[in-house]
Amino acid sequence: MDYSSFSGKVVKGRGYGRKIGFPTANIDRRSFVRLVKKPKEGIYAGHVAFTSGIEHPAAIVIGPKDVKGLPHLEAHILGFTGNLYGKQLVFLPKKFIRAFKKYPTEKALITAIEIDIKKIKSILNK
Ligand SMILES: Cc1cc2nc3c(=O)[nH]c(=O)nc-3n(C[C@H](O)[C@H](O)[C@H](O)COP(=O)(O)O)c2cc1C
Repeated sequence: MDYSSFSGKVVKGRGYGRKIGFPTANIDRRSFVRLVKKPKEGIYAGHVAFTSGIEHPAAIVIGPKDVKGLPHLEAHILGFTGNLYGKQLVFLPKKFIRAFKKYPTEKALITAIEIDIKKIKSILNK
């Protein structure tokens, strides 16, 4: 299954991802809103491309819609640490993993993310 890719500048998130051990790069929604076929809400295995052309495997999250009616767009880039604020990134979702859902505890969310990342690594052969 092929999904539309989209790009954006890294903006400040809430820092919650970092707190729970899975930092994410959040991008603005300008490119996403223009997509004719928007990938649905959920977690995807895919890649994140930097302007240099380098692509990293990533867990891409298309979150629930906010008050503006647009989803949060974020990616946990596998094997990458560094500051990406202000950088332009392309998100390339490849495979839908699961729907976004509310977890009863932080521990349950962390366990779910760990499982996602295992699946994503095996899908992307990393
Ligand atoms: C792979 C992955 C899957 C996630 N799935 C969910 C989810 O299903 N439900 C949820 O409430 N949060 C989920 N999160 C966490 C939220 O998106 C979290 O709020 C976010 O990573 C923190 O964003 P921040 O950059 O604004 O701090 C997931 C995060 C990652 C990296």
